[in-house]
Amino acid sequence: MSDSEEKKTKQEQFLEFIQKTAEQASKLTPEELKCNYKGTLYPSVLCSEATFQSMGTLEARDDDVLIATYPKCGTNWTIQILHELLFGIHNKEPTLSQAMLEFGNPEKFQHVNQQPSPRVFCSHLSYENIPRNFFEKKSKILLILRNPKDTAVSYFHFSNNNPVLPSYASWDLFFEDYITGKVLYGSYFDYLLEWEKHIDDGNILVLAFEEMKKDFPANLKKICDFYGLSLTDEQIKMVHEKTTFTFMKDNATIAKEKAGSVFRKGEVGDWKSLFTEEQSKEVDAKFEEYLAGTKLGEMINYAKYCTY
Ligand code: A3P
Repeated sequence: MSDSEEKKTKQEQFLEFIQKTAEQASKLTPEELKCNYKGTLYPSVLCSEATFQSMGTLEARDDDVLIATYPKCGTNWTIQILHELLFGIHNKEPTLSQAMLEFGNPEKFQHVNQQPSPRVFCSHLSYENIPRNFFEKKSKILLILRNPKDTAVSYFHFSNNNPVLPSYASWDLFFEDYITGKVLYGSYFDYLLEWEKHIDDGNILVLAFEEMKKDFPANLKKICDFYGLSLTDEQIKMVHEKTTFTFMKDNATIAKEKAGSVFRKGEVGDWKSLFTEEQSKEVDAKFEEYLAGTKLGEMINYAKYCTY
């Protein structure tokens, strides 16, 4: 099978998966679209208790890459960057899991265990819920942060555009769930606080969405250093061109488009379009309580990106 046929087949498989889950979801109420596992809500048509339980059978490797993100912090962007680095430049075909580690059926890990290196995984799971194997094997973990206000706005639009997620009648209703941690995947503040305790454990590179937008080459260099890859200026330019918001949006697969507004605006500061002053202050207070004085809090550069 040729390269393009192989890719087409993967895309077709992904499209089928998206269509199947959307059809399933259309028969469920907003409440039924959520499932609870150990106190956190997840999308019920994508996640199951059985899959969470079998996740421990995944045999992690030291050359695995795990992209860790809270929803809407730049997962697809980072996947594309890794794809360009590993495949586009170094001509290694990475085993890219199009879906999240936690999505799909429990048997999938048997297949994943057979897949060749280099493998790239992504997950929205909190630190505590990521399979321990990744840490024991010292797999490389790339944690991407985004300021909590833009994350909320992006999450709101995504929830209302993705058929498998519970939609919200208004921004205010979404905000209420976001600030109290009742959205899928729970509180972003808890998520960050948990990672904060472990970012010095080794093999974890933390980058911020806003800084990646501001100075892409510098951040790409950090990723390359982390993975021990060496790129020429020309190659950096090429990766940059293929991972801009516009390029990715224009080349998005039908499946990604069907999965909702994955490529919506890709901007910093869009929170001002929806936040009331009171909501803004609520997030400020949460940030102060959870993240003031922490390393991750500093990396988010809250004063710069979250104030009027
Ligand atoms: P917006 O909704 O604010 O536009 P994820 O991939 O984790 O679901 O994150 C989606 C967010 O990342 C969306 O934010 C999307 O537009 C933005 N995004 C995706 N690709 C991007 C890129 N190449 N550059 C900048 N932002 C990007």
